[in-house]
Amino acid sequence: MLAGKRILLIIGGGIAAFKSLDLIRRLRERGATVVPVLTKAGQEFVTPLSASALAAEKVYTDLFNLTDEAEMGHIELSRDADLVVVAPATADLMAKMAGGHANDLASTILMATDKRVLIAPAMNVRMWDHAATQRNATTLQQDGVIIVGPNEGDMACGEYGPGRMAEPLEIVAAIEAALNDGPLKDKRIVVTSGPTHEPIDPVRYIANRSSGAQGSAIARALSALGAEVVFVTGPAEARPPDGVSVVPVQTAQEMHDAVHKNLPADAAVFAAAVADWRVENSAEQKIKKGPDGTPSLKFTENPDILASVAGLEVGRPRLVVGFAAETTNVTEHATAKRLRKGCDWIVANDVSPGTGIMGGSENAVTMITDQGADAWPRMTKDEVARKLAHQIAEALNDA
Ligand code: C5P
Repeated sequence: MLAGKRILLIIGGGIAAFKSLDLIRRLRERGATVVPVLTKAGQEFVTPLSASALAAEKVYTDLFNLTDEAEMGHIELSRDADLVVVAPATADLMAKMAGGHANDLASTILMATDKRVLIAPAMNVRMWDHAATQRNATTLQQDGVIIVGPNEGDMACGEYGPGRMAEPLEIVAAIEAALNDGPLKDKRIVVTSGPTHEPIDPVRYIANRSSGAQGSAIARALSALGAEVVFVTGPAEARPPDGVSVVPVQTAQEMHDAVHKNLPADAAVFAAAVADWRVENSAEQKIKKGPDGTPSLKFTENPDILASVAGLEVGRPRLVVGFAAETTNVTEHATAKRLRKGCDWIVANDVSPGTGIMGGSENAVTMITDQGADAWPRMTKDEVARKLAHQIAEALNDA
């Protein structure tokens, strides 16, 4: 699947660098050429000789090596690859990338490249959780960088939490998705997913039971067909798929802003269970019990994200897909919703109690288009996602 692909692998300085040697092996097994670049710190963890022996390629280590510059300049190196991968991506490398620094070979390549960049962060849990790293991760995602992991687990430093580099095979899967020549290659698709949280006060919020499973499966299926997926997700239980740009949000308003900020796109799929209302008088401080009795919450309507995108006069995605969770007269309600919201398709599902669909692994959907209603047999959410992704590919590739 990676035959003929050329991957520039920047190995940063972290204990996880040893896993990058295995990553080289796994990529080569799949037919890719891997050109390693070792940062100065990376060389403290793995030697240029081992990287070069496993890659069977020359290893690049220093920006001002005149011999290398004569043979292949750093600009050419950055353009020659199909994908630039940074594994492990340390907190420092991420900060440099987010800040646009170019003071060594790795950061210069990352600034000069015209290819997509995929990073696998690895660092101490507190470094990952640090506001600066989180800010940098958000900036990088907004810049279109694909972030794989980090995973949660025991760390080399003895602590526990998110910070472990994704496993080599997880990174390989994300690389394959990023390089996929599938029918959605060169198509950018925004997917919303999960619930939204609407604050009552700084510690309380109103939410719903959406797990984000269907939205996550759709993002994965679109990415597997080669799409560049921007995954705008509320606080969901389901893990976002590897290989997509994740934009985490909390509220409907934030989701609305993130979606519009990430347009233009070829298609947009609105699988999120967005709160229809938010608390208008949400409190700045925690609401206290007291002699005044129970608080009274006043609601105001949230923006309808789907309708706002479907109604765009300029920059409307070619295909806008909404969801409808109904408990009665599914087809009738969903057909009316398609017209009311101005979207092209509605994926309608019956979530009445007893179907086990809300929060379950299966779904029974009816697809509503301008051609009418098509009831799909009950299948897993992954299968629904794949079928939907194929139909989206067909629609976008039509004429
Ligand atoms: O109106 P209803 O909530 O049933 O519509 C469901 C569809 O509209 C879903 O696709 C959902 O993601 C989208 N939606 C939205 N913004 C809202 C409410 C719903 O994008 N505020």
